[in-house]
Amino acid sequence: MTVSAKVLNYDLKNVVTPNRLTGLWRMMSGFRWHYLGATLSLGVSATAKTLTYILLRFFVDNYFTPGPKPVPLPVVALGFIVLAAFEGGFSFLSGRLSAQTAEGITRRLRNYLFDHIQHLPFSYHRKTQTGELIQRCTSDVDAVRRFFADQAIGVGRIILLFVINFVAILRLNATLGWISIVVVPLVVATSAIFFRRVSKAYEAFQEQDAVLTTTLQENLTGVRVVKAFARQQYEIEKFERDNQEKFKRGKHLVRMHSLFWPASDILCGAQILVGYYVGAMMVIRDEITIGTFLAYMGLVVWIIWPMRNLGRLIVQTSTGLVSFGRVLEIIRQDREPLDEGDVIPDGNLRGELVFEHVGFQYEDGGKVLEDITFSCSPGQVVALLGSTGSGKTTLVNLLPRFYDCTEGRILLDGIDLRRYPRRYLRKQIGIVEQEPFLFSRTIAENITYGVGRDVPQEEIEAAAKAAAIHDSIITFPNGYHTLVGEKGVTLSGGQKQRVAIARTLLKNPRILILDDSTSSVDTETEAEIREALQRLMENRTTFIIAHRIQSIMDADLILVMDKGRIVQRGTHAELVEQEGIYRQIYEIQTRIEAELEKEIENAS
Ligand code: GTP
Ligand code: MG
Repeated sequence: MTVSAKVLNYDLKNVVTPNRLTGLWRMMSGFRWHYLGATLSLGVSATAKTLTYILLRFFVDNYFTPGPKPVPLPVVALGFIVLAAFEGGFSFLSGRLSAQTAEGITRRLRNYLFDHIQHLPFSYHRKTQTGELIQRCTSDVDAVRRFFADQAIGVGRIILLFVINFVAILRLNATLGWISIVVVPLVVATSAIFFRRVSKAYEAFQEQDAVLTTTLQENLTGVRVVKAFARQQYEIEKFERDNQEKFKRGKHLVRMHSLFWPASDILCGAQILVGYYVGAMMVIRDEITIGTFLAYMGLVVWIIWPMRNLGRLIVQTSTGLVSFGRVLEIIRQDREPLDEGDVIPDGNLRGELVFEHVGFQYEDGGKVLEDITFSCSPGQVVALLGSTGSGKTTLVNLLPRFYDCTEGRILLDGIDLRRYPRRYLRKQIGIVEQEPFLFSRTIAENITYGVGRDVPQEEIEAAAKAAAIHDSIITFPNGYHTLVGEKGVTLSGGQKQRVAIARTLLKNPRILILDDSTSSVDTETEAEIREALQRLMENRTTFIIAHRIQSIMDADLILVMDKGRIVQRGTHAELVEQEGIYRQIYEIQTRIEAELEKEIENAS
């Protein structure tokens, strides 16, 4: 089915309403005509079925007894054939339409979810488990699909079959008509009771399903840790416990279903028996013909069937609604506005930064940064040094507005950072993350990831050379076209970092942030990178976070951080003169290095 771009781009934020049924109705936007078509086809099919029984009655009453025949027998036979063709053909058409429509709606939902999740802020991803998100985007979305494939169209089918066949029976015989629906209220009441119970059981089941998905996902991602600590047995037992719980909840859900079916079956069976008994008595008393009785026997099944299925439908809808609610929880989250901001600078930033009494606190935690004040001119190199957890990464994360500072302000080229659109900042600022992530694509694709255009091979290689990774890449079997990750080469930590540096360099950002980017390379390679970076750092403001004093000695400004505060500042020359952490670290590091050198000399 071809779906227009307009339908595909419908903003699903609209489906967030207090009433989930309204939300589901809005989900159908752009697809409602398809549903009408499916329902109309059903109507034709159901009418053909009903007419078949009426024709049966005509046939039995006229052709089993002697006397004149209203029409020749082959015409009656042809009638049966035509009705069967209509019934089957339109039923097929309806099924096809509704299945395609459900797929269309689900496709749009999946696309939207993916897009939406890409736009959710850092803080949301920090607090949400990946497994949980995966489960909602797969299992829950599938339950929503089933709702649109089966239940949404099922309502139409049930109402149509019920009304058409009820009217048909009433016209055969009014008494029979009213008798056939006495149990309707009972069936509806039973369904309503089960609706709530199944909802609850299903919700609990899906929750546990998410727990299991998270366990699985974490174990696959962290398989090395598990092996390194030889914790397989523990993990297996944990998985078994989670799985056992899922089994328990699944069993409860199945029990709810299995209680419901016999209950509604007994009611419907009783209904049919009473109907047949009354009908048979009426034939004996000559109140109706045998043909009428046979037609009734056929038709009444198609009244009972919708009643039974109304129950099934109500109960299944409850699962659809629960899953829809779980998906809504993602859609409800606010996106991070990328283009909001009242300054739209033309061209590039200069890169002058002023921090004025900046403080920061994570939503769910204590103060991480306090009273950070410093400034740097365009093109300067600022180095951050400090113990682990002192807030270095948090500080640099403020620059591309992954988070906004909660106190004070940051001025970029003289304008408050919060007035810049995030998209613009992120184009202008390049970060080499502390733990860089590479996609399972080729090395070339990874390096060009940030630029979003075709890049000539020379440029890619220049970036790779600057990051001191070119020589390693050409030793790989397919060079720059080697796949990274599971299906290709496994890069070492240092190689990964260097590919990430190349990726950021190619983006040519005005502000460059290197968060501990040379931590997993040896001193020699680090010197190589530093030299190459030296050229690249020209004319751009650079932030370097490092643990080795060697890497930051040339910085224009060194900030020493401790517990979220700047405790010392200055150039290397100034800082070694002062009493303080900096000198201590420097002395320790030079002593260790001197000792190492001596040992190497002795060994050789
Ligand atoms: P290293 O990278 O280990 O050298 O540390 P760092 O200086 O980069 O520390 P970072 O800025 O990552 O963290 C500073 C403090 O913030 C630590 O106490 C963390 O526990 C805390 N923190 C970091 N991220 C989050 C977060 O997403 N939520 C909350 N509540 N706290 C966080
Ligand atoms: Mg850090």
